[in-house]
Amino acid sequence: MTHARDNFIAWLRNAHSMEEQAITMMTAQARRIENYPDLKERILLHLEETRAQSETLTRLLAQFTGGTSTFKDMAAKLAGTAQGVSGMLTSDAVIKGTIGSYAFEHMEIATYTVLIAAADELGEEEIKASLEAILAEEVAMAEWLEKHLDDITRIFLMRDERDLLAKR
Ligand SMILES: [Fe+2]
Repeated sequence: MTHARDNFIAWLRNAHSMEEQAITMMTAQARRIENYPDLKERILLHLEETRAQSETLTRLLAQFTGGTSTFKDMAAKLAGTAQGVSGMLTSDAVIKGTIGSYAFEHMEIATYTVLIAAADELGEEEIKASLEAILAEEVAMAEWLEKHLDDITRIFLMRDERDLLAKR
């Protein structure tokens, strides 16, 4: 299963890079949000989870490769910074950011589902369990966002209307 091992290592690397990007994006997002305390709090909670996930992935890669392989993914971090900055220029940043987060969580869910299947094929039970724990956090975040998208949108529209009236 040499190819399976190589694929698994590549997917672990991608996942780590994805989480580093998530950290950059959520840091920028949380800093920007003022009027949506529940959203801010949930993002900060997931930010902590994501930092731990990134560390777990580093540990899993070392465990899988016997410490011969490490992550180098500055490029992804920089890409995340650029996205964080562009979102700040629009008035509906909270909506665009929430849509982006919802999409991002689903990319993470797909990534961990793939990794879990690969770990299972490789007979890596312990690694698989760690990946399942991460997947559960991604699913919980995606569900929270799905549940709150409606409210966040209505609050945004109401505030936007009020601000427009105040300017007249
Ligand atoms: Fe996530």
